[in-house]
Amino acid sequence: MTDEELIAAARSAAENSYSPYSSFAVGSALRFADGSVVTGTNIENASYGLALCAETVAVSKAMADGVRGGLEAVAVTGPLDKGGDAPITPCGRCRQVLNELAQLGGTDPLVLCVGPKEVRRIRLSELLPDAFGPASLD
Ligand code: THU
Repeated sequence: MTDEELIAAARSAAENSYSPYSSFAVGSALRFADGSVVTGTNIENASYGLALCAETVAVSKAMADGVRGGLEAVAVTGPLDKGGDAPITPCGRCRQVLNELAQLGGTDPLVLCVGPKEVRRIRLSELLPDAFGPASLD
């Protein structure tokens, strides 16, 4: 799957967003070394602080199915009419959650942050430098 197809998968996942409180639908798609793709979308809650982000949902889906590494790329999409021209980037918690899965497989995934004017391509290690991860506990 190409980067553009991965972004399309994230956009498609956002169609299932449950975000009645923020009206901010986010989609995420993870691509793995074996070619598999796992998607996620944000799921909010009447208790606002319990919202689950799209990236966290995608990582959770993958890990619940036994995936423990091989994360090569992550696409994140949000509403293109909010946030100005800046591409959406994973929140701090999601960076940490993505890092766990990435470090387990020794990869530094490319994060495709989609905006209205450009797709920003950045490594997870740039979004989360000096990350605390599984190896930190050894
Ligand atoms: N959100 C995500 O799904 N991923 C992010 O990285 C940033 C924020 C969601 C959480 C909430 O449902 C909505 O966007 C507004 O913050």
